[in-house]
Order: sequence, then structure tokens, then C-alpha cells
Amino acid sequence: MQKLVILFVLVFGSSMLPAQNNNIIPQPASFTYTRSLPFKLNVGTTIGGNNAEAQKVARMLADQISRPTGFRFTIRKTGAIQLTINAVADPIIGDEGYTLNVTTSAIKINANKAAGLFYGAQTLLQLLPPEIESKEATSAKWSIPACAVTDFPRFGWRGLMLDVSRHFFPKEDVKRYIDRMARYKYNVFHWHLTDDEGWRIEIKSLPKLTEVGACRVPRYGKWGVHDAPKEGEAATDCGYYTQEDIKEIVAYAAERHIQVLPEIDVPGHNSAAVASYPELCCTQDPSIKVSPGCKIAEWYGNGQFKMLVDNTLDPSSEQVYSFLDKVFTEVAALFPFGYIHSGGDECYHGYWENDPDCKALMAKEGLKTSHELQSYFTKRVEKIIQSKGKKMIGWDEILEGGLAPDAAVMSWRGLEGGIEAAKLGHYVVMSPNDYVYIDLLQGEPLVEPDQTSYKSVRLQKAYSFEPVPEGIDPKYILGGQANLWTEKVPTIRQAEYMTYPRAWAIADLYWSPKEARNWDAFTRRMENHMERSDVAGINYARSAFDPIVTGSMVDGKLYANIATEVNGLDIYYTLDESIPDKYSPKYTGPVAIPEGKAVTLKVATFHNGKSSGKMVPISRDEIVKRVKKVNP
Ligand code: ACM
Repeated sequence: MQKLVILFVLVFGSSMLPAQNNNIIPQPASFTYTRSLPFKLNVGTTIGGNNAEAQKVARMLADQISRPTGFRFTIRKTGAIQLTINAVADPIIGDEGYTLNVTTSAIKINANKAAGLFYGAQTLLQLLPPEIESKEATSAKWSIPACAVTDFPRFGWRGLMLDVSRHFFPKEDVKRYIDRMARYKYNVFHWHLTDDEGWRIEIKSLPKLTEVGACRVPRYGKWGVHDAPKEGEAATDCGYYTQEDIKEIVAYAAERHIQVLPEIDVPGHNSAAVASYPELCCTQDPSIKVSPGCKIAEWYGNGQFKMLVDNTLDPSSEQVYSFLDKVFTEVAALFPFGYIHSGGDECYHGYWENDPDCKALMAKEGLKTSHELQSYFTKRVEKIIQSKGKKMIGWDEILEGGLAPDAAVMSWRGLEGGIEAAKLGHYVVMSPNDYVYIDLLQGEPLVEPDQTSYKSVRLQKAYSFEPVPEGIDPKYILGGQANLWTEKVPTIRQAEYMTYPRAWAIADLYWSPKEARNWDAFTRRMENHMERSDVAGINYARSAFDPIVTGSMVDGKLYANIATEVNGLDIYYTLDESIPDKYSPKYTGPVAIPEGKAVTLKVATFHNGKSSGKMVPISRDEIVKRVKKVNP
């Protein structure tokens, strides 16, 4: 018997997990538990790096593990935990990959570049118990299972976008967001810096952009239905990043091997710029204000809309191009990344169509449609961006009317824009809203903070996204992103709630081999990361554990059907107004809903005997409404 136990430990390591089960997100390309007892981290453990770059990563790792363990580390050339930049490049792992070998006596991380060592260190942290995320000294069994990992990313562009215009996130929040991205091997932080609701980047040669454009009148409550600014009302809700702030954040991200992609969204979405410099739009209307989240557009469905204020830069005005030259000169100097994002989405053409100068320009340039006019504008923007030594990327609307010669496309309205651009031989970053828009609802609307979202992207849907469409040369797909618009995200805690766990699922999509995808295995890993996030004080949503209630009619009788995204949950319900617990009726099949306006079905899920999601109370009327609907 003792022999059997020893064999079990030898085969599976102390973690007692079978070989294929690990908790790492994103899932490594190859991971094997090996036949050795775990490595025990202790006060005497030494950490080494074979050169200055390796020692820098070693120091970051040491900083992270010294806080919870209370152990102090001095970084040397060699150590029991050894980080090595390979003298001869390992062709399998590329620039961002690494190998990690843990035995009882030593941990070796090898990589061709510092980025690979950094990612190896992230994996190592995830092999330690969740307490490693503690910011204070704590006690835990600091052991790391013996294993051999060879890992490298599927895509070179793994991004998260944060909109800081609709809600401003202070510098420390942005760093916190970047910190978490790094843990999951994201490498592009797309910073949506300008929009109708605030211009957030200091441009020294255009001071009004932040004096005026970074401030709006204060409003509270539901977004989109706020009162418009009143005559003479002070714009006191302000926030922007100074150029010093930006340098600090760019450096902070670079230490974590994250590039920062700045977005200056033009020509639409520009109320803040136009409020600062009214001469930039066709109407030159001096009454335009930075929007406080009031209604500025009418939406007709299918992407059709009308802007109620002229928030659009005037493509016929040379002043606009000299304005953009100034903006991009300063932006290019602040951000080392090779790309600048110039937006291009949701640009309303109505004011252009009525403007004599725009009409004259169209006649002069032989532009037949307003899309061609936008394309004319975008091509000029590309030239400006290129003149600063950068490449341009824009939202997929930049395809309309003709794509600028070297532009890369960020496909958001689906995959089609990306497919079209790739077929034209342009680079593409995939971020289709149906799969990776993490501002969208992720669970039952009745119990989510935002009940009015126009769409839902549940976790399982996000996890099902395949970034390389059939028939496309994969070399044009640089990778993908998840995008967080923040109209309804006022705080960093709420940003985290919307980001995780979807960004964990999406980390797998962009890093891990396609074949490694497995929903049940992912949800098990996710639970471990929920535990880690609890220790770290990072918020996340448990919506994937919530019940999904739909209705059906059989022989004129109403039934509720209850499902969950995560498999293996127990579902309990009540129809008597009491709160369901694990002693309530257990769901085994459609529940007959009695007649009566007052009837409410209350549903809760349990996992291993513990409450695992939010309780959903749903009225009979609501179940009736859902009879034809698939998942809400
Ligand atoms: C976008 O979501 N308007 C790019």
C-alpha cells in the first residue's frame, strides 16, 4: 500500500492531479507533471538570472513572491530558481516562449528573450498556491509541483482595450489593470484615449483639448439618459493623463512586456475635441459640449444612426490635418509601439453631406460617396502617422470607400472586415463584438449590473471564438483583443467584473494551441483563478454559475427550463417566495409554473454543496416572455 502511495506521488506530484490537469491560464502549449517530489520554496531559496535582463525578470518575480512569503531574495547569477536567456536560440519557443522545468531541487526557466522569461515566471506564480497573490505575509505550503513545460503563444498580438473616455480611470487603476493583463500573458494594452465624453491625453501644443475636452458636467445614474449640459453649468467632472503620467504607464507596461497602443479616434466620436476647438467640425458650432453621457445620437438598428450633434472632424479643412499632425507628433513621441490606432468607427456623414466645402472637395477629388470622403480623410491620416515613423491601425469602417494603402484593420462588427482586409493583404486584429466585447452582458440580465445592454456575450460564447476564419492566410491575423467600453463601467472594480473571467477565456484563445480548448477543463481552471483573484483583491463575475431560465409551452401549460453554462452544478428552486437553498426542490427537468400574476420562480445553483452563483428571481410574466427566446 505504501508503495502505491509513493508511486502515486511520484507520478502525479504532490498536487494529486492527473498529468493533463493544471490550473494555468492561458493553457500552456505543453505541460507534464514529472516523477519527482515538489520543489519547496523556503527562506533559503536563491534566485538567479544569467544576465542583466534575466536578473530584471528575476527581481520582479522575487518582489512578487517575497510579499506573501515574507522571504527576502537577493538576485545573483545562479540560484535554485534559475532564469536563463539562451545563448543559442531555441527555435520552438520563439521570442515570447519559454521552457520551465521544476524538480525537487531546482527550477529552471529558459527563454530566447526576456519576454519569454517573464511569461515563464507568470506560469511559475500560477503553480504556487493562491496565497501567492497576497499582498501581505501569509502562511501557505509554498510548494511547486514537479513539471516540465514548453510554452509559446499562438498569436503575437494579445490585447485588452480599456476605454478611459466614457469613464476616466486614474493612473493607479490603469496600472492595476495592466498588472492583471500581464498575469495572463496579454501583451497589448489598447488605450482608447479620446471620445465624445472626454479627451484624456495631454497634447502640449493644443492645451484646450484637456482644459476643455477633459471636463464635462457631472451626472450620476444611468448612462445615455443623463440631462444634457445646461446653459452656464460648470464642467467639473475632469480627468486626463499628463504626458508624465503616460510615460510612467508606458514604462510600467513595458516592464511587464506589454506594448501600449494609443487610440485617437477620428473623424467621428469627437465632441470633446470639437468642444475644445469648434473650428474642427463642419458646423463650427461653439455650443457643442463634452457629452456627459446624454443622448447625442439616434440609433435605428443594424448599425444605422444619426448624430444629433456635430461630433465629426471636417475632412475638407486643412486646419483639421494640421491639428492631427500636432496630435500625432506628440502621440508618436510618447508611445514606443509601432502602431497608432486612429479609430474610424461610427462616423456620421450627415453634416459632411450638407457642407459646401465637403461637397467641393468631393467634386475636386472625384469622390462619389461620403464613404469615399472618409477614406480620403483616413488616407491622409495614414500619411501623417507614417510621417511620424508609425503604422496605422483602425476599426473596420476604414475599409469602406477604400482602405488606406498600409493600414491594419481591427475587425469589430464581426469577422467580415477582418476577412476582407486579410484578402486584400492587410494585417488584421480580430475583436468581433459577438465574441469578445466584454462591455456586453455576461449573464442573466435580471441580476447583472447592466440590464439594458444591447447584446450578450456569455463566457462560453467568448470561449468558442476562433480568430482565424476558414480560407484566410493566417499570417495576416496578427491576433486578437477583448474590448472594454466603459459607458456603464464607472470604477476599476466594475472593470474587473466585466473583464474576468471572460479575459481568462480569451487569454486561452490568443495564447494556447487551438487543440487545447476544452470547456470543462477551462471552467475548472477558472475556479482556481477566482480563488487567486479573491486573495489578490481583484474582482470578477461568477455569472457563468448563474442559472439560465427559459420558458416553454406544452399543451397550453407554462414550463421553466433551467440550464447553466458551467457543467456539473446542482440547481434548486422555489415557487413559494422563499430563498432556494440545497434543501429546496432540486431541478431535474422542466418546472411547471402555476397560473397567477404573483408567481415568481426563484433559482439558485450549488457547486460541491456551496452556493455558486447569484439567485435569480423571475416572474411568471418574464418566463412567458422567454418562451420563444433562446438564452437571454
Ligand atoms: C466600436 O465598438 N465602436 C469600435
